[in-house]
Amino acid sequence: MESMAIISSKQPEPDDRQDGEARGDRKRRKPPSEENSMPKNSAPRNLAVPASAMASSVMPKDGDLLQSAARPDEVGKPEESLRPKRLADYIGQKDLKEVLEIAIKAAQKRSETLDHLLLYGPPGLGKTTMALILAEEMQVNCRVTTAPALERPRDIAGLLVGMQTGDILFIDEIHRLPMVTEEILYAAMEDFRLDITIGKGQSAKTRSLDLQRFTLVGATTKVGALTSPLRDRFGLVQRLRFYDLDELTPIVLRTAEILSTAITPEGAAEIARRARGTPRIANRLLRRVRDYVEVKLEGAIITGTIAAEALERFNVDPCGLDWTDRRMLTVMIESFGGRPVGLDTLAAITGEDAQTIEEVYEPYLMQIGYLQRTPRGRIATPAAWKHLGYQPPDNQLVLLGG
Ligand code: ADE
Repeated sequence: MESMAIISSKQPEPDDRQDGEARGDRKRRKPPSEENSMPKNSAPRNLAVPASAMASSVMPKDGDLLQSAARPDEVGKPEESLRPKRLADYIGQKDLKEVLEIAIKAAQKRSETLDHLLLYGPPGLGKTTMALILAEEMQVNCRVTTAPALERPRDIAGLLVGMQTGDILFIDEIHRLPMVTEEILYAAMEDFRLDITIGKGQSAKTRSLDLQRFTLVGATTKVGALTSPLRDRFGLVQRLRFYDLDELTPIVLRTAEILSTAITPEGAAEIARRARGTPRIANRLLRRVRDYVEVKLEGAIITGTIAAEALERFNVDPCGLDWTDRRMLTVMIESFGGRPVGLDTLAAITGEDAQTIEEVYEPYLMQIGYLQRTPRGRIATPAAWKHLGYQPPDNQLVLLGG
């Protein structure tokens, strides 16, 4: 898997850094003539998430540019034009879609705002996309930020006072909220009230401000890391799961159409098979295969064979494993002979940081049954041994508790 820097189309300006936000503002109930144009006051200026505020990740993050009229292949913001805009266009996550459809219809019927929603699951599965879809369906603005950008109370206060009735505030990586910020959210979420302390020590005073009723959509890869007071304030808590082949293949076909790239259903399936159950990776692999075909094969149609050939070149194997996955598993097998290995050891050996291994690599390896987390450390399963061409030892089942 290639490591990419977080690319912002533009560095945030000083004002934007002040309240540490990225806005995806959209005029409420736009007249049709505005539908495809970008309102002046919501130009990309406000949309870039400070790179330093993003978690280490192997992929560009979602929060980069959120209300874009950009062409599909504009540098630095390819993800945006590929996002489905309406629930009906969103492929996969059937259960989640059903739950949200009901929540949207009920809120609309009662002319109420949506309940606060917590979305959790591995990166790249569509949490940001879902928040933007909710805003579109409810015809409200969506403001997008990431928890590490909300360092000071005034960062979150600035966002909250700017919310209009029904607006959505999307906070990515919400498990990383600093405690001071999190505590401000409690009253904001529950009573739509902003409690701020002015001054310090004995002269400190608390002021309360009424807020408009808004909807907080929190996203996290680590739901267990949320404090219970925060978790309990979400009316809806929903998991996003990895996509299966039948869901990812049409996503690849849809993206290919948007990118005007010729591809066969077999070509799309080959890319989907290697995409680790993750639309963001599927779309990225498609772009790599498209490059390969344009440069090496003079723009030939992407078939199954061509997709496989291209992805082998990029070191993505038929199960979607990349160099880091294989290195992790190989070290577990060769150096530890199937005994449990600690997370920090894996991080040191692969050069990846522990958080990326835990939140990006391990969930998929566990999903396909190649890795197990045990109280004593990580173990490569017999399936992983076989995939990499090793004969698993007889005592593996004992170690795995089988
Ligand atoms: N592009 C990325 N994720 C998608 C999804 N779930 N449905 C349709 N297109 C997508």
